Amino acid sequence: MQESITIPDIVQAKNQRKLTMLTAYDYPTALLVDKCGLDMALVGDSLAMAVLGLDDTMSVDMDIMIHHAKAVSRACKHSLVIGDMPFLSYQLSTEQAIHNAGRFLKEAGVDAVKLEGGEAILPQVQGIIRAGIPVQGHLGLTPQSAGQVGGFKVQAKTAQAAKKLIQDAQALEQAGCFSLVLEAIPAEIAAKVSSEISIPTVGIGAGADCDGQVLVFHDLVGLFEKFVPKFVKQYDNLSESIQNALLKYKQEVEQGDFPDKKHSFAADKNILQDLDK
Ligand code: KIV
Repeated sequence: MQESITIPDIVQAKNQRKLTMLTAYDYPTALLVDKCGLDMALVGDSLAMAVLGLDDTMSVDMDIMIHHAKAVSRACKHSLVIGDMPFLSYQLSTEQAIHNAGRFLKEAGVDAVKLEGGEAILPQVQGIIRAGIPVQGHLGLTPQSAGQVGGFKVQAKTAQAAKKLIQDAQALEQAGCFSLVLEAIPAEIAAKVSSEISIPTVGIGAGADCDGQVLVFHDLVGLFEKFVPKFVKQYDNLSESIQNALLKYKQEVEQGDFPDKKHSFAADKNILQDLDK
């Protein structure tokens, strides 16, 4: 396996090979993502829902994101680590955006940051890139502004919205983004966006013609049961396997079968004799 994935590796993958990206929020998960050779590990703000039990992504802040990103960076030797800029960490000003993107690199050791939005946040994207920090764009369904687009719905369903999407994608490419996440977009429209720009697109609910794919780790392994979007393929049902293990443990403890001799330490016989004196 190649040592570590770089930004040029991601950019050059377009039309050569499909890119793989998965979320990771902690050290053991990131170790697995890295060991399996995925190109990118995204410390997504989806951690709010997947591991913190919150109802949306809005209430996580930079301190929480950095806490998780540190653990992921520690684990990843191969995968490129991307820190997801949380709600209100870049919307207020370009200065704020550069400051927080810088925190992600300096404090958490990530390789790049991801921001949601198109032309509306172009000054922030340009500022971060000018500061030398690689940026991944994110268009289509952008959960931080889901309220504005009527909830968690498929985007770019009209010709006008699709044109705006292409315009935003081109603006982000021109600003210097190294790749672009496309979320919840009809497959044909995502294919069109992918063919109109020279940077790779990474789709989630955006069909097979994107240049790569991303999923939330907990969705992929069947560890998030609250809701399963149409675009999620569950490759495993870890929730069931873990519950089976926990129930077996509970039963064995209650019945006195665990711990057995194999999982216990034996005292030296002399000590036992001394104790009885
Ligand atoms: O936060 C996240 O996990 C994301 C992905 C869905 C792309 O932004």
